[in-house]
Amino acid sequence: MAFAYTSLGQDKKYMILTYGCQMNVRDSETIAGLLEAMGYTATDEEKEADLIVFNTCSVRHSAENKVFGKVGEVIGLKRKKPELLIAFGGCMAQTPEARSILKKQGVDVIFGTHNIHELPYLLEEAYTTGKQVIRVWEKAEGIIEDLPVRRQSGISAFVNIMFGCDNFCSYCIVPYTRGRERSRHPDDIIREVKLLAREGYKEVTLLGQNVNSYGKGLEEKVDFADLLKMVCEVEGILRVRFTTSHPKDMSDKLIDTIAREEKMCEHVHVPLQAGSNRILKRMNRHYTREHYLALTARIRDKIPGVAITTDLIVGFPGETEDDFADTLDMVKKVRFDAAFTFMYSPRSGTKAAEFTDQVPLEVKKARLERLNELQYGIATEINKSLEGTVQEVLVEGPSKTDKDKLTSRTRTNRIVIFSGPGDLTGRLVNVKITEARTFSLFGELVEG
Ligand code: SAH
Ligand code: SF4
Ligand code: F3S
Repeated sequence: MAFAYTSLGQDKKYMILTYGCQMNVRDSETIAGLLEAMGYTATDEEKEADLIVFNTCSVRHSAENKVFGKVGEVIGLKRKKPELLIAFGGCMAQTPEARSILKKQGVDVIFGTHNIHELPYLLEEAYTTGKQVIRVWEKAEGIIEDLPVRRQSGISAFVNIMFGCDNFCSYCIVPYTRGRERSRHPDDIIREVKLLAREGYKEVTLLGQNVNSYGKGLEEKVDFADLLKMVCEVEGILRVRFTTSHPKDMSDKLIDTIAREEKMCEHVHVPLQAGSNRILKRMNRHYTREHYLALTARIRDKIPGVAITTDLIVGFPGETEDDFADTLDMVKKVRFDAAFTFMYSPRSGTKAAEFTDQVPLEVKKARLERLNELQYGIATEINKSLEGTVQEVLVEGPSKTDKDKLTSRTRTNRIVIFSGPGDLTGRLVNVKITEARTFSLFGELVEG
């Protein structure tokens, strides 16, 4: 498909504010591509921007609150500079509650997750009519390939393999904001990965809400493990990652493929969510703690040195002290390399928001603190055990916190900071770990 764009952005600057998950990071790269095709150039300075685009997340109340706070600030900017355009997209735009608030706040354009490609026309319309333009599709109409893209890194790239989610975990808004599950054709994915390799990218991370069900609904018979093998065959790409796997249907074929394929990094993110079978059932997760323990044991057995990371929710409706103790117990048993931990946040429209036995905020806060203390201790212990070892890292560029140092990642997705010449960026090098902290490692370049 060929697209023609307006030249509205000539001599103008844009800024995108991205919230939420990797899918949004990837979508923002498409938004940036579209805006640059309109002539816009990027700026990091809000005050310089002629257009500010919000790409938002509604997974938790706190995520939405952050966005509303920022929208208020940007509306303030617009008062001083009336020609500033404000566009609002992402998961919040798909929810009727957030949309009605924004409508009143006076943003210029509201667009959804299914019609990002329409943004140039919506901006043009808002600019020429001076009126608010709201266009949100309730559902996706197929997958639109070949949209322009402006990626953030030159080394590591996100590649969508599927969109949406059909799992309907009882707490989760994503199936409502991202629609039904649909997979991209393997040919389109491989074409994109080959192009990335030609552009000099060294690593790809394949994205989907539940990669294990990749391929469902496609004419060709292909599953996620088959796709991984095809991606690993692309010359020039040195490392392949993916996220996220649902524990209910992670196959042995997939585990074997990760174990066998040299380019597959030894890292799996398998969100556990809760350790109590009663809570898992109410979450509509379709597995038990026993299943999860057996699965992670198989993963560790078949993939030596693998890092297992997870997501955990505390204070789901009806969670008792005993249920919470089951979560702590699972954390001790599995020994996660890292975990994203959240307080349950009721999302309007989801089943769990209707449950009457909501857990008080103070209880959630106290449980989160106890969970984090345990998990951080374990992560620190595991990291400390790496001190003195030599790790292969992919160098990503100058460290954000210390410009004189380089930041890099191990195969197990740990960040390693070390000193070395800038031209190592994009290369695989060996680093000896000299100091381990909870969230990062420090090391020295091993020459030769
Ligand atoms: N598709 C991914 C997760 C997407 S959302 C998966 O299934 O693994 C990322 C994480 O946010 C979830 O794993 C969950 O831990 C958390 N989350 C989702 N909805 C939430 C809610 N209502 N309250 C708190 N945390 C939530
Ligand atoms: Fe949400 Fe569950 Fe789908 Fe993940 S699998 S996006 S948690 S509904
Ligand atoms: Fe991602 Fe947040 Fe939407 S986690 S899918 S941006 S609700």
